[in-house]
Amino acid sequence: MVRSMQADLVVVANRLPVDRITDSDGSKGWRTSPGGLVTAIEPVLRENDGVWIGWPGGTDTDLEPFTEDGMRLIPMSMSQEEIEEHYEGFSNATLWPLYHDLAARPEFHREWWDTYQRVNKRFAEKAASVAAEGATVWVHDYQLQLVPAMLRELRPDLKIGFYLHIPFPPAELFSQLPWRRQILEGLLGADLVGFQLAGAAQNFIRLVRQRVGHKTHRDLVYLPDGRTVRAAAYPISIDAAGLEELAQTESVLARSKEIREALGNPRQVFLGVDRLDYTKGIYARLRAFAEVIADGDIDVDDAVFVQVAVPSREQVETYKVLRDEIERLVGRINGDHGKLGRPAIHYLHSSYPRDEMAALYRTADVMVVTPYRDGMNLVAKEYVACRGADDGALILSEFAGAADELRQAWLVNPYDLNGMKQALVDAYRAEDRERARRMRAMRKTIRQHDVAAWADSFMTSLTEVPGNHAKTLKPARRSGVDAVGD
Ligand code: G6P
Repeated sequence: MVRSMQADLVVVANRLPVDRITDSDGSKGWRTSPGGLVTAIEPVLRENDGVWIGWPGGTDTDLEPFTEDGMRLIPMSMSQEEIEEHYEGFSNATLWPLYHDLAARPEFHREWWDTYQRVNKRFAEKAASVAAEGATVWVHDYQLQLVPAMLRELRPDLKIGFYLHIPFPPAELFSQLPWRRQILEGLLGADLVGFQLAGAAQNFIRLVRQRVGHKTHRDLVYLPDGRTVRAAAYPISIDAAGLEELAQTESVLARSKEIREALGNPRQVFLGVDRLDYTKGIYARLRAFAEVIADGDIDVDDAVFVQVAVPSREQVETYKVLRDEIERLVGRINGDHGKLGRPAIHYLHSSYPRDEMAALYRTADVMVVTPYRDGMNLVAKEYVACRGADDGALILSEFAGAADELRQAWLVNPYDLNGMKQALVDAYRAEDRERARRMRAMRKTIRQHDVAAWADSFMTSLTEVPGNHAKTLKPARRSGVDAVGD
């Protein structure tokens, strides 16, 4: 590996923070993808001249390291088989449902596990080859849980952090996994294992004690070789100031007005924004809305529901089935309750740039976020950040990580249809003063705990874990960047 690629900070994630785009003349290029993670990590990456290792999507094999937007990126290729067995298979049809309370039935296949190990090994080897002596490596998410131990084996001099963006299940669920011990041992290669919530960190510590047999005390694991691993919560957030500023620009405000007009100037707009994923509770939410209309509590002449469903993991069977189910339901609801020029639900199967999202958030009088289980849910936080006038109402599932912080939302149990119906009606009828009281408190929370604070606190904890021989990294100098993310 060329010397110029040696870095004091290496970020390893399944995806690179850029998307491959094809220009009108057919030439290929890159565009920074919208997502909280880039926003958080970019400044510290720049300051330390770090590199980011990840998969750019697709099966291209001729990819060389490149610099985009000042970030040094190292693309990892994936074969068709690896996409099917590592990404779609083990990551998204085994781990994803298992870690999200069995929202779908996880599939266990030994070939998928083999490929998951192989891909993790390749990522670990790449990180080992670009990390400078004593560097810090920050590994992300469920697709790469074996990387910390594999990397430590290759490079004991490194400081290794791991952050799980999704929930970590209780022992009763996790224990179904035939390879549970290997996953736990993979994670224990890190010095610090970060989770969204304290409960997830406790699940992990308990499992390590039960299944691996290590001694633990509070948030620490003591390994036989004398190392200590810390497991703690670092709730992720968004670039609140950047988004707040964007949502107040003239163009976004004008676009918001246009959207409202296009919707027929209803008295109130309900909004859902999700990746089209079965954990998000889209189906139940739309049913609740339809019933509220059928009951006569909300009239389609007064209100409309806009559901943005961002295409996701479209080759995975459960996602295909979900799409069909939701689209059938939307058709039925509009057929039953819509009027000419007044559908009850506007359904958009697409992703949008961040300024369009900010305009949608500005337009929404009631934001409906009802996942069955969600690590954090940044959409809820983005909505709050965009409500500069302290108006608007947030309905939020108590099973989203964000509910721990956004206590003033209308909290709902997404399995309780009547409860959701009640929340839709309550939020719809709430007085402006009541909405403002709740929104003001939530905006304060979001401003205090933004994504920069998240990255700083994780990195600071990582340097403080006992037994650290790594170099000290430079803190980030921040600029106002932003994103709209999952
Ligand atoms: C979640 C995961 C990320 C993942 C993202 C999009 O937020 O935590 O790791 O990148 O979903 O999913 P995708 O499968 O398109 O990468």
